[in-house]
Amino acid sequence: MSRLLVYNIATLAGITRVPGLARKCGADMAEFDCIHDAYLLVDDGRIADFGLERDLSVSAHEVVDARRGTVLPSFCDSHTHLVYAGSREQEFVDKINGLSYAEIARRGGGILNSADRLHHMSADELYAQAMQRIDEVVAKGTGCIEIKSGYGLNTADELKMLRVVKRIKRDAPLKVVSTFLGAHAVGRDYAGRQSAYVDLVVDEMIPAVAAEHLADYVDVFCDEGFFTPAETARIIDAGARYGMRAKIHGQELAASGGVEVAVSHNALSVDHLESMTGADIELLRDSATSPTVLPGTSFFLNMPYAPARKMIDAGLGVAIASDYNPGSTPSGDMKFAVSLACVKMRLQPAEALNAATLNGAYAMGLSSDYGSIAVGKVANFVVTKPIPSLAFIPYAYTTPIVQAHYLAGKRVC
Ligand code: NIG
Ligand code: FE
Repeated sequence: MSRLLVYNIATLAGITRVPGLARKCGADMAEFDCIHDAYLLVDDGRIADFGLERDLSVSAHEVVDARRGTVLPSFCDSHTHLVYAGSREQEFVDKINGLSYAEIARRGGGILNSADRLHHMSADELYAQAMQRIDEVVAKGTGCIEIKSGYGLNTADELKMLRVVKRIKRDAPLKVVSTFLGAHAVGRDYAGRQSAYVDLVVDEMIPAVAAEHLADYVDVFCDEGFFTPAETARIIDAGARYGMRAKIHGQELAASGGVEVAVSHNALSVDHLESMTGADIELLRDSATSPTVLPGTSFFLNMPYAPARKMIDAGLGVAIASDYNPGSTPSGDMKFAVSLACVKMRLQPAEALNAATLNGAYAMGLSSDYGSIAVGKVANFVVTKPIPSLAFIPYAYTTPIVQAHYLAGKRVC
């Protein structure tokens, strides 16, 4: 057995003590439970014990001085598209110059631009680029991540993307879950034939993905101008037949039925939610579907933010994710997403931290093993530099705070 002891922790934060607590909802999100002057004990990569330093009476193989830093659970980023080819800063400049989304798409921009680039890039190069992004987010404190396909848009290229995700799962130090998003946009070969493309997703892509066990979840971009709720239902029913639960993109552009199809199909999450009605919030209230908000996307696209404050006040358990992708959110910085949630969505720091850790883990189906400091969970935690309080984390919105990062009890940076 290998034993790691972290001592001299000024604040040990993000503790959960209720066994099996899957996520925090409503008013409970305001508690990011802490103890002060603490230690943390890790046996074979899992949290074995924690408590007040004055009660400490164990020895360990490896002893780490936290140097009065705060220890908190690693971020759990439940929505990314971080396997992609190249970058799209030209669209960013075009937008500054006033071009509309439609004009940018006409000039070859948007999701199809990324699909073209991905088609021409080797799997090895795609893997190398994605691993650089993984290194970047691990250094910023992310310990669990979801990665979607959706820049292939034909069977071969969707499989190519998901095989890259499989290699990342095997090689990266953090926990990875994968999501098949063939219905991100209609692929070029099917331009003007959306229903035939949906047939392809259902009849060919999903069985091929399942045959190689390449995806844990299935996603659809269910929104105005993309896929309808009826098409979404068909695709997620097909995924369910192969054991893939749904995590869908919904109601970014319009209140167009994404929440209803997610809740009625017991989706694990419905993400974006910039356009929400009161009825949508009611639908989510008694469901197991995680409402996941992506504040970085609203920031970068200069669009309205999801009404996360209203959702929490209504009792929902909101998760925050980055949406790391080359078009709408070229950043996987979860600390910045937490700051945005505080500044732009009026979340309390404790609410935003719960949303980015435990509730993010829930939105990946991982919260029994990740997302909080709890005995038995995988020892994924960040040791910060000394900080005056937890609120300092979102307050100092560009200040790096990571002193060290441990994943499964091993130091990764
Ligand atoms: O989650 N909303 C849909 N898809 C991505 C953006 C994709 C892109 O522009 O490449 C998102 O924001
Ligand atoms: Fe997304």
